[in-house]
Amino acid sequence: MTQPTDRPTTLRDRLRALPVLGEDRPGLDPGRAPEDPVELFVAWLEDAIDAGVRAPHAATLSTADAGGRVDARTLLLQDVGPDGWVFATRADSPKGRALAQNPNAALTFLWPERARQVRVRGAAVPLGPRASAADVLARSDPSRATALAGPQSAPLPSAAAYREAWDAALERVRGEPDLVLDVWTAYALEATSVEFWASSPSHGQVRLRYDAARTGPRWSRELLWP
Ligand SMILES: Cc1cc2nc3c(=O)[nH]c(=O)nc-3n(C[C@H](O)[C@H](O)[C@H](O)COP(=O)(O)O)c2cc1C
Repeated sequence: MTQPTDRPTTLRDRLRALPVLGEDRPGLDPGRAPEDPVELFVAWLEDAIDAGVRAPHAATLSTADAGGRVDARTLLLQDVGPDGWVFATRADSPKGRALAQNPNAALTFLWPERARQVRVRGAAVPLGPRASAADVLARSDPSRATALAGPQSAPLPSAAAYREAWDAALERVRGEPDLVLDVWTAYALEATSVEFWASSPSHGQVRLRYDAARTGPRWSRELLWP
């Protein structure tokens, strides 16, 4: 007996049938793009926040260590400003160690509901103890407990060991509200290039890349083939 189904049967067919981008696509008009990519990035991020995109500040941070071994993981953007794109993590984590060996990194943002992507490339540099302390002190107690609990990405003997360390860390941060963790580090990715990708029904795919200029105006701009 055949199964009544309107669902594709193979994973390949299922993947091919999936919708990728939302219906509401504001696109990108290169003629109206500002001179500074930070301005455009903030406008797009705020658009994604206003549109209710889940975790619009989540980005993929890509790194490469001194041996050229590439890694990538998700983290949360904390701010964007004159220093660049700010994120925070433990300096003794694999990503922190990779950045100490090779600061070249990339952040990739995807807002599928708005049919937009942004790629930021440059050097990620530690912002120093004051900014790192401010970052950790602005976090919730559970978030600070996670940062404090143990060496991020080191092998863990058991889930119970983590629970125990996390409970102890939570108690400690609650008892010491000014506790600052030495290894917790705020970094800024100082962009050398920022690429904006958008798809819209009227213009199809548009890619606009800003490159930091060595001389003259701070940024040059060019369109790229999709
Ligand atoms: C949505 C989301 C947000 C995250 N935000 C952070 C963050 O801001 N900082 C951080 O260190 N790890 C964050 N993580 C965990 C990282 O993805 C990663 O597991 C961890 O930092 C270890 O990475 P590493 O081994 O490459 O150093 C987040 C994970 C997810 C899924």
